[in-house]
Amino acid sequence: MCGIFCLLSLSPTHFEWDKTVYGHLKRRGPNSSRDLTVTNGNPCYQCIFSAHVLHMRGLLTAQPVQDDKGNVLVWNGEVFGGVTVIPEENDTAVVSQCLSSCSSSSEILSVLSSIQGPWGFVYYQRAGDYLWFGRDFFGRRSLLWKIDAEVLMLSSSAWQEVPAVGVYRIDLKAATVSGTMTFEVYPWAHAENDVPSSCIQTISESIPNSCTAVMNHSGLVLSSPVCPLNMSIPESLSETVIHPNSHLSFKDLEQLLASKEKNDEVNFLIDALSKAVRRRVLCLPFESQGSSPFINSRASVAILFSGGIDSMILAALADRHIPAHEPIDLLNVAFKLQEPKMQTESAKKQRKHKNKPTDSKTNEAGLRTSCPFDVPDRITGKAGLKELQDLNPERRWNFVEINVTQEELQKMRQERICHLVYPLDTVLDDSIGCAVWFAARGTGFIREGGEQSPFTSSAKVILTGIGADEQLAGYSRHRARFKTSGHEGLIQELAMELGRISSRNLGRDDRVIGDHGKEARFPYLDENVVSYLNSVPVWEKADLSLPRGVGEKLLLRLAAKQLGLGKSAVLPKRAMQFGSRIAKMENSHEKASDKCTRLLTG
Ligand SMILES: *[C@@H]1O[C@H](CO)[C@@H](O)[C@H](O)[C@H]1NC(C)=O
Ligand SMILES: *[C@@H]1O[C@H](CO)[C@@H](O)[C@H](O)[C@H]1NC(C)=O
Ligand SMILES: *[C@@H]1O[C@H](CO)[C@@H](O)[C@H](O)[C@H]1NC(C)=O
Ligand SMILES: *[C@@H]1O[C@H](CO)[C@@H](O)[C@H](O)[C@H]1NC(C)=O
Ligand SMILES: *[C@@H]1O[C@H](CO)[C@@H](O)[C@H](O)[C@H]1NC(C)=O
Repeated sequence: MCGIFCLLSLSPTHFEWDKTVYGHLKRRGPNSSRDLTVTNGNPCYQCIFSAHVLHMRGLLTAQPVQDDKGNVLVWNGEVFGGVTVIPEENDTAVVSQCLSSCSSSSEILSVLSSIQGPWGFVYYQRAGDYLWFGRDFFGRRSLLWKIDAEVLMLSSSAWQEVPAVGVYRIDLKAATVSGTMTFEVYPWAHAENDVPSSCIQTISESIPNSCTAVMNHSGLVLSSPVCPLNMSIPESLSETVIHPNSHLSFKDLEQLLASKEKNDEVNFLIDALSKAVRRRVLCLPFESQGSSPFINSRASVAILFSGGIDSMILAALADRHIPAHEPIDLLNVAFKLQEPKMQTESAKKQRKHKNKPTDSKTNEAGLRTSCPFDVPDRITGKAGLKELQDLNPERRWNFVEINVTQEELQKMRQERICHLVYPLDTVLDDSIGCAVWFAARGTGFIREGGEQSPFTSSAKVILTGIGADEQLAGYSRHRARFKTSGHEGLIQELAMELGRISSRNLGRDDRVIGDHGKEARFPYLDENVVSYLNSVPVWEKADLSLPRGVGEKLLLRLAAKQLGLGKSAVLPKRAMQFGSRIAKMENSHEKASDKCTRLLTG
């Protein structure tokens, strides 16, 4: 993974750029930093490239990469398929070679379309004077821009998100002549006639009036790497009895699941997810090559781990592919619960019991006892750890308890996190951004034989479960939508959510995780996984007439059961901001969608 930067200036005067962004980029790519300037006299323009590389696999390839024709590439991505990269090669060099051999726009688009994996890039094509840039189909890598009259800046951090609707091309000759920039857009689409009409509007909203965005009328598009969403709705409503809020026992839920055999779908899903995880955990830096494996060697892969079904499945599948001697780090974040208030009767009782040694569990009423970090995700995380230990007792599972206090939260939010979450700005972005930042840092404690010892995860790859809820109807708003507008409404909601996941989540999470010199990887957003899930009709993925903890993400729950997981297969969704209790910490009555004043960078 990398921090990339490009400054395009159409004015002949030498342009000094603000190097504060440099610091952010260097944290993303600590292993090699280089700048490269391309100046052209006629037409007159200047491009400054800067790239900061985190070494992940193959030989370290310093960037920017310049080929013998004078083309320049800065690449923040991973090639997981579509273009062959053998383990000894570095994917940047391979992508550069592929682009270098292209002589037309359609060839460039076809190279970019064929790459499976996350990417953001800037490419200077010397022949014809073009500057290309863009993000992959889902927008899994952050790319931001800032546009002034004659200057365009692109970077992995700071400014406004480049909409992940396609790739962009600037004709530098034309731009120098007119003195303004025109962004030619080649959108992601299944076919020429399938380009979303909102595409140009989305872009126009994020560029100044002095610039224009145009669609290329030659009909060139990037072919979408996933198949279209299956829009079919069931002919007759399912006969299942509706149990809306019933409290079923674990046994009941298990029986319900057992009665829902969907073997083919479940096996296909497991197979696709397993391959997606495999592609994301192999070829990593810390693999001890040649030398004999140490039992206590460090993990190369970590998982953002709440013990919920999404992260449990990732852990169970990672266990299949990561060498047996290597540990896996499970990152579990908790924010300190506030001191219980004295107002209520039960709270007073709670206080009295405080001196006695008690089992530190949250009681029925949700009141806490001695341990302020025993938040819901910590409790389910520990239970999940137990399940994984049963699944593979030989594996060393490092359950990293990351306890965050209010003081530390405030300090790090001001110093770092607010810059990374930016340009996103809601209370929800603040909560998730902070929770993910502390989790990804991986600094906490692990327990060994009852002893707690300080521990920092050294894994450079972090798997996250994002994308499961958006595709398998995991959120409570999906239930609400299903109730009011049935399967049709639900399908529309799911399509809309997957479409906006880049601007809502992925850019932010990439910046937040990348800040630790670690790379976020999203198995649920693997092209083949999404394609498979898109092909399955919605009622196979979720059955929202069934109770919470079963109906939503039904297909995934069946997969979890098949993989041998236990109670975690029927845990209801708990959003990270509540599970980690960060939302409680701020002690105010703000809504998730409100602008968050704590994020103001001043
Ligand atoms: C990359 O940089 C990180 C942080 O400075 C360091 O821990 C790591 O060993 C470096 N990796 C290589 C391959 O140089
Ligand atoms: C990157 O990979 C290419 C192709 O495998 C190789 O020729 C090149 O030497 C590598 N780059 C560096 C800096 O090692
Ligand atoms: C569309 O793309 C083709 C190929 O790159 C190019 O020759 C043509 O000028 C473009 N048309 C517009 C309207 O930008
Ligand atoms: C972290 O929180 C856990 C509660 O899950 C607690 O048992 C542990 O003592 C805490 N560790 C530290 C060092 O605060
Ligand atoms: C959608 O699902 C239905 C029901 O399984 C199936 O018959 C149909 O072929 C699917 N359509 C697409 C486009 O995959």
